[in-house]
Amino acid sequence: MNLSTTYLGLKLKNPFMPGASPMPDSIGAVRRLEDAGASAIVMHSLFEEQFTNEDRVLEDEIATHLESSPEATSFLPIPTEFNLEPDEYLKQISQIKEAVDIPVIASLNGSTVGGWARYAKEIEQAGAHALELNFYHLSTNVEETGSEVEKRACEILKTVKESVKIPVAVKLSPFFSSLPNFSRQLVASGADGIILFNRFYQPDIDTEELDVLPTLQLSNSFELRLRLRWLAIISASVPTSYACSGGAYTGHDAVKAIMTGATVVQFVSSLLKNGPEYLTTILRDFEKWMEEHEYNSVDELRGCMSFKHCPDPLAYERGNYLRMLQGWKV
Ligand SMILES: Cc1cc2nc3c(=O)[nH]c(=O)nc-3n(C[C@H](O)[C@H](O)[C@H](O)COP(=O)(O)O)c2cc1C
Repeated sequence: MNLSTTYLGLKLKNPFMPGASPMPDSIGAVRRLEDAGASAIVMHSLFEEQFTNEDRVLEDEIATHLESSPEATSFLPIPTEFNLEPDEYLKQISQIKEAVDIPVIASLNGSTVGGWARYAKEIEQAGAHALELNFYHLSTNVEETGSEVEKRACEILKTVKESVKIPVAVKLSPFFSSLPNFSRQLVASGADGIILFNRFYQPDIDTEELDVLPTLQLSNSFELRLRLRWLAIISASVPTSYACSGGAYTGHDAVKAIMTGATVVQFVSSLLKNGPEYLTTILRDFEKWMEEHEYNSVDELRGCMSFKHCPDPLAYERGNYLRMLQGWKV
């Protein structure tokens, strides 16, 4: 069976890889991921604040904010909590390259246009095969419109693309009003692929201490559905590489993601819960399903459930919505 696939122009032995997380901070874990069948290693994001942190800018900003607002202690990042310092991050790229034969995909989250470009270049020089731009943006400014947010993202992407030669993918959140149009703009601005979706970590409120509790909860399989819907819609009209990120736990989940148009599937929560070796189970179950259903290659499966085959996607979505609500029996 042919599981090989081309993602961001990289030839991969199969469509399964760990998503961005601290797992590859350890070379031992990187080797275990490769042994388990991972076709690439995706590193966690390097944050621009980590670079400015070296100049103590972030610490000063945080200190100022803490003085004016003591209850902010729990929601502002404490600089020492970052996983790898920037030079360690860059060194880790070359160490991973030495340790394994699969491509290394780094990830970046900038905060200024110049910062995105500068650190993208450093990541390329360190030897990464590709780069994810983690557009984790939460609009807090009432003056800023949705199209301004999209325009800024496209400008950042264009600037990054001008400064590096490696392929660049964009990781989005689901909170854009017209994801198909925004995706098309990103591809026109040079994106080599789109990752659907990042997760926003949603803090809880401690009502007694008047505190914010930024707990990180791993995903569950139900979250895959949001990805399936948008992959099916966007991949049908915007040709590019797609990674499905979020809620994928099993080989069967991977089948669904590829059916809706994913080029690759990224796993984080499932591997954090079950260990890197769990990827072997995912791969085995995926292959078993393919054999039982007589598919010879991933390319044959890809997109068979996307909206490419739907003459009127809007009517279909509305019809399903109505059917679902009216089908509820009290
Ligand atoms: C501990 C942890 C760290 C993460 N770090 C990053 C990161 O640095 N950059 C990023 O783009 N996504 C990061 N993510 C998000 C994951 O890459 C992924 O998009 C998300 O967890 C959904 O996938 P899952 O359901 O397989 O966990 C992180 C997730 C976890 C759980």
